[in-house]
Amino acid sequence: MTTLDEYRSYRGLPMLAGLATIAEAARPGLSVEACVTRLKRYHYALVRLHEILTARITAEPVYELKCAFSLHAYLCAEHVQALRARVGEMREPPLGLEAVPDPALEVFFDEVLAAPTAAELLVGLYEKAVPALDAALARHQADTNPLADAPTVRVCRFARLELADMIEYGRRSIPCLVDEPARAAMRPWLGLLDECLAAAGGVDGTEEPSGRPLARQYSAQPYVYDPVPQRDERFQDLWNQGVNPEAFLYTPGIPARPKTLMMLFKRIREIDVPEMMASIIHQTKGKPWEYYRDMSRQLWDESRHAMMGEVGFAARGVDWTKARITHNWSMRLNTECTPIERHAVLYFIEQGLMNKTGKRYEWEVGLESGDPLIGTFQDYDWADEVLHAAIGREWYIPQIGHWREALDYGDRCWSKILSNWHAVRDQGLTRHENWWPDIYRQACMAWGVEPEPDVLAYSETYESQRADLKAVSASG
Ligand SMILES: [Fe+2]
Ligand SMILES: [Fe+2]
Repeated sequence: MTTLDEYRSYRGLPMLAGLATIAEAARPGLSVEACVTRLKRYHYALVRLHEILTARITAEPVYELKCAFSLHAYLCAEHVQALRARVGEMREPPLGLEAVPDPALEVFFDEVLAAPTAAELLVGLYEKAVPALDAALARHQADTNPLADAPTVRVCRFARLELADMIEYGRRSIPCLVDEPARAAMRPWLGLLDECLAAAGGVDGTEEPSGRPLARQYSAQPYVYDPVPQRDERFQDLWNQGVNPEAFLYTPGIPARPKTLMMLFKRIREIDVPEMMASIIHQTKGKPWEYYRDMSRQLWDESRHAMMGEVGFAARGVDWTKARITHNWSMRLNTECTPIERHAVLYFIEQGLMNKTGKRYEWEVGLESGDPLIGTFQDYDWADEVLHAAIGREWYIPQIGHWREALDYGDRCWSKILSNWHAVRDQGLTRHENWWPDIYRQACMAWGVEPEPDVLAYSETYESQRADLKAVSASG
């Protein structure tokens, strides 16, 4: 008879495929039922994190936070998907996943969702919610049998990798935005969040629940989503439609290099897409999780496209704040259209990018310009947009019917919110100032060339043309 200490693998090879030692795998760990009970709680936490991060993109003014929330919402959506799949593998149809596993956890996430300031939101998310979930996943890895439950351990490890990135983002961003007085002022609320977790026995419910009652603070009134896009102070003149970059791009004879500036402008202006898509995702209930995952992926891609524009300008020493990165499109869609109308417009526009004057053309211009960075950005931008057209085919078209009707509906919806060029000028919201010469001059300085007079003189606006170069109709 050999004891566990004496047990050896063949020639000392790592045992158990390297997962664990025999001693570790010889501890019984969690039952399937206990495992699933915990998984449902992590799932709930990630669904709520996804909801909160998505809901707060639109009305968050700070561009950097919009982009970070876009990424983190997408990461949560992926881990929700993985957890749902794992629950479905454990003799459990993935049912009961929509139930609230613990009322105290519900209060906890409701409070974070309703945090009235970005400072409270950041601290609530990155110092409370995400670390509490991460601690639960770490405990799961320690408690479960590493061999019998290896597939769950794997899901936990992958999730924790990205939760660590989120916690690190919070660690670096909170000091930039939250000073000591602000932190002191939110202390009672942070105490409430701790009380919620104590009442729930932790995210995983493994601790003894405190039994203490909870008094809602910010979530005492039900949360109301704010669909109005906000921007920080670097974004000025938000209704400006004084430069038509699409018309510029398709004007024959203009050299490729100045065209790359208009493409960078179009990229950074795409920050309006996350603002708009967040409203679709938040206001469309009851879809399969794959819908939210795919839409969140697309939302994140659009934030990436905006950041590619930012990088392109910054790398050239061009101050992009001198362009007018407007919110006209997201504002009008979010406040004048229903979620399905917004999705229709998005699909219509993205479908239009698939022909040879769309994304392929932008990539070709990037290559022709001799600037490899633009080539790279447009190459991936094009690939992303092909994916987005597929996401539209999967989730948007079936809601309307045939693809032809779906396209026509998108065209009509866009026409509905199309022409406010005169209206916003007459209301004094903008003078449609032509920002192009400033941006072009800055770039020419960086390139060490003189501006070309006919390129410098470009002054086509959105008055009579919309972004797909269709004439603005009088009825529109
Ligand atoms: Fe995009
Ligand atoms: Fe897209």
